[in-house]
Amino acid sequence: MCGIMGYVGPRPAVNVLVGGLRRLEYRGYDSAGIALGTTDGIHLVKRAGPLRVLSEELEQNPPPPAAIGIGHTRWTTHGGVSDRNAHPHLDCREQIAVVHNGIIENASELRLELESRGHELRSETDSELVAHLLEEVEGDLLHRLQVVAKRCEGAYALLAFDLAEGLHMCAVRRTSPIAIGFNEAEVFVASGAIALAPWLERCIYLDDGEIADLRPGRADVFRLADLAPIEKAFHEISVSGDLPDAGRHRHFYMKELYEQPSAWRSVMQGRLDDSGNVDLADTGLTHEALRAVQRLLFLAMGSSLHASQMAVERLQQFAQIPAEAILASEFRDTRTFLEPGTLAVAVSQSGETIDTLAALRHARDLGATVLGLVNAPSSTIARESDFVFDLRAGTEISVASTKAFTTQAVALELLVSALAAAHGRVDTTGRLAALRAAPAIAEDFLMEFRLPEDLIARCAAAPGVIFLGRGQDLSLAREGSLKLKELSYIWSEAFAAGELKHGPLALVDSRVPVIVCATDQKHAPKLRNSLAEASARGAYGVSVGADLHATIHLGLPMHDSLAAYLLGALPLQLLAVSVAEARGCSIDQPRNLAKSVTVE
Ligand code: G6P
Repeated sequence: MCGIMGYVGPRPAVNVLVGGLRRLEYRGYDSAGIALGTTDGIHLVKRAGPLRVLSEELEQNPPPPAAIGIGHTRWTTHGGVSDRNAHPHLDCREQIAVVHNGIIENASELRLELESRGHELRSETDSELVAHLLEEVEGDLLHRLQVVAKRCEGAYALLAFDLAEGLHMCAVRRTSPIAIGFNEAEVFVASGAIALAPWLERCIYLDDGEIADLRPGRADVFRLADLAPIEKAFHEISVSGDLPDAGRHRHFYMKELYEQPSAWRSVMQGRLDDSGNVDLADTGLTHEALRAVQRLLFLAMGSSLHASQMAVERLQQFAQIPAEAILASEFRDTRTFLEPGTLAVAVSQSGETIDTLAALRHARDLGATVLGLVNAPSSTIARESDFVFDLRAGTEISVASTKAFTTQAVALELLVSALAAAHGRVDTTGRLAALRAAPAIAEDFLMEFRLPEDLIARCAAAPGVIFLGRGQDLSLAREGSLKLKELSYIWSEAFAAGELKHGPLALVDSRVPVIVCATDQKHAPKLRNSLAEASARGAYGVSVGADLHATIHLGLPMHDSLAAYLLGALPLQLLAVSVAEARGCSIDQPRNLAKSVTVE
């Protein structure tokens, strides 16, 4: 989603802004812009389309030197994709520049008010309103932004400067993330630490309801409500300063897909010993903390939800602990109480997904203890959790998740085993031996595996694709379906196999591939029946895992249910990218989607 970048200091601001925005590109966006504070006023350049379009424009028409500037990549919410709606936005006098991430919910009222007072609005965005509101308030920028932020309802982050105040900018956070870093002569602001990494080793994160006054060499943070000063802790920026690079791979999706075995090793490192014992001490989950857990509630979106659904299946089977996985966006509105002893597990690759964060807060308000399972240990979800399980999967750039999803499944399996052991439920040793063996076997599998060309062609031409599964394989079917629709834009849906006869079968004809996930052998007989029912209606049947006598069978080299699940994800991920490439789709940044979903 929208990326914010700001800089004050002696380097040419344009280079820092474009460099930072490039590192935020993976979040997903549809237009980009910068505003530079120069001696001749604010120099504004905004372009719809990829950042490349903006940087080519800046190369052809180099902007004047500037020591202060803000930049933005926009993921459209209010108003279409256009140069005009791209950020930054200016006030009527073109003295104040603003960038914004999030949604201002009372934008219609504010717009009417501003228009009635004679402001000339140049865009259809909610964001521009902030620049005009700032224009109306007296005082220095910090006070003005405080007043304006209090008038804006919703969840957002704002960054602004006023030419009249020289080398000075202010940022405010209400839910959407802001990272700030500085050295003696400079100050940097961005939506994520990844954008600060080329220049800094440490940063601070604004928390909700905080406002920052930024000048070269310093960042003073205050409570938005009353401007009471706040001491902030510094966090190490753990990502590399080099621009992320897909290396020998065609895109990040493929690179990350192939990184899965090493990501699984990394999440197990130091947590699973050779005898199969799990130790989650680094997460804070001691034996006593695990013993105290009476039930689990997983809160997540997208692929993270699918990994959570897998964990629910396995918790019930192996640890006999009640568990449920809820779409985080639904949780807040539907739950008013939680059972005592509930551990809420917020599962999120980015640690910034707003629905998951809001659900975590609601669960905490209802009395739950919270575990954040994230791939970003400094993220907001991690900072607001009682326990933090760091996924250690490495940065995931592709919007469609690969390695984060399967590594979440590994991490959650460790959690299941630790809970089972703490509650004295089952001996998990044998099962975890298969988990330890999975990375090496997956590496060989990835080297040798080739998808049948006919399968790719059939899916690429299909009006829709159906995925089926039972038990743990229902979550894998959902993930396979999500990958396919995200990457190839083909309509696809996942159903519980038992549901097939209750409606979905009406969709089946000879043009519709039916892909049955069967990594848990115990469901094979029933899944074989479902596939037979679809095939009898002409469907092009595909099985993954157990042999279901399908037209295409994608066998796996491991039969242990968890290892097979991890391996079974690989052909589904490969199928999605192969079909998408056959259809000429953009792989790392699918249309309309964003990596870090920071608006509700
Ligand atoms: C977006 C991404 C998905 C991801 C989901 C949850 O929809 O495109 O790939 O699974 O958000 O993200 P999170 O960072 O919370 O895991």
